[in-house]
Amino acid sequence: MEIQLDPAVLADKVRDVPDYPKPGVVFKDVTPLLGDHVSFSTAVDWLVTRFGRGTVDKVVGIEARGFILAAPVAYHFGAGFVPARKTGKLPGETVSVTYELEYGHETLELHRDAIAPGERVLIVDDVLATGGTAAATVGLVEQLGGQVVGLGFLIELGFLEGAKRLTHDHVSLLTY
Ligand code: PRP
Ligand code: HPA
Repeated sequence: MEIQLDPAVLADKVRDVPDYPKPGVVFKDVTPLLGDHVSFSTAVDWLVTRFGRGTVDKVVGIEARGFILAAPVAYHFGAGFVPARKTGKLPGETVSVTYELEYGHETLELHRDAIAPGERVLIVDDVLATGGTAAATVGLVEQLGGQVVGLGFLIELGFLEGAKRLTHDHVSLLTY
């Protein structure tokens, strides 16, 4: 099924917030898009159809906003949901990676037993900015032996060239 998508309608639901979280950053706020049921379901359906062919065993959502999108995508695929969490939040044995962000640095973790070797994994997040978060998550999945089948984002900040750091197929609903 092809999703009838008018990107301009969804783009209208993304709010620019100047100087957040620090001066000079224009933050793309997706909460209006998530809060509108038509935009939210359209965005989820679009992500699902873009990766609709082939098996997905696990969908990894990146804390925190990635969780919101990855969970319904996993549900659609009949796949498991795996949270990539910030440091200290996962109770079991983890693998972890520290990386640079557009505005600081961060550590992400996966439970060691969350992905089995050979499982096909889709990674979902709200925003691709510098690509540090996404690339770090790919590294964690591969460390566990998972096969990354793709990455899906709502928004790509093209001017930050995060795509250059990705070594797998990715799709972005809105690119700025
Ligand atoms: C934001 C966003 C992505 C990441 C993108 O998360 O949700 O995960 O930054 O940046 P990058 O491409 O430069 O790595 P943030 O760390 O602000 O977390 P949050 O979802 O918990 O607010
Ligand atoms: N919006 C949301 N998340 C982000 C942004 C942004 O502009 N930049 C890096 N992560």
